[in-house]
Amino acid sequence: MVSPLMDHHRPSWIALRQRLWPDCSIPDHMAEIAQWVADPTRYPCFGAFRDNALVGFIEGSIGIHPMTDLSNPVAFVEGLFVDESSRKKGIGRALIEELEKTATRRGHSTIYSDTEAFNTASIAFHLRCGFHIFRATATEVVFEKRIV
Ligand SMILES: CC(C)(COP(=O)(O)OP(=O)(O)OC[C@H]1O[C@@H](n2cnc3c(N)ncnc32)[C@H](O)[C@@H]1OP(=O)(O)O)[C@@H](O)C(=O)NCCC(=O)NCCS
Repeated sequence: MVSPLMDHHRPSWIALRQRLWPDCSIPDHMAEIAQWVADPTRYPCFGAFRDNALVGFIEGSIGIHPMTDLSNPVAFVEGLFVDESSRKKGIGRALIEELEKTATRRGHSTIYSDTEAFNTASIAFHLRCGFHIFRATATEVVFEKRIV
């Protein structure tokens, strides 16, 4: 089941965030989550739950984004993580699709994402989910996907 992430999900949300961003401090995780939940229009975030436990999350943003070099607001995947034991079951795709629905409702016809150039699993995942490469450098890949 995929549903919006709220402040009361913070402990399990931080536990997953720590695995995606191990260099981020707990106070920084707390501050970022506080910012996201305070403004879900700007930062739509969704969790995937199995047996009421959080097993994955997606953090999105809708606004001007420096990674695209575009002057118009875009929908962007800021973070995506699925617990190792729940991978390859369609959860990552379901989280992307939930953010796409939000973006579509807000009038966007494309969605963007990025990953590190060494993250071959993430690159394969994005391509399987219909993204194409918008820009690539030695260190990062930016993806674009038409959603309508
Ligand atoms: C990338 C990630 C979110 C994928 O989540 P997932 O729930 O396993 O993905 P899904 O099961 O929804 O897979 C969707 C498609 O991508 C493919 N895919 C997923 N992981 C893959 C991998 N490691 N290698 C190749 N293809 C992969 C699936 O086979 C599937 O394709 P199909 O539907 O055509 O068969 C997950 O592996 C993860 O959290 N990785 C660590 C964090 C990360 O890299 N996040 C993204 C960058 S911020």
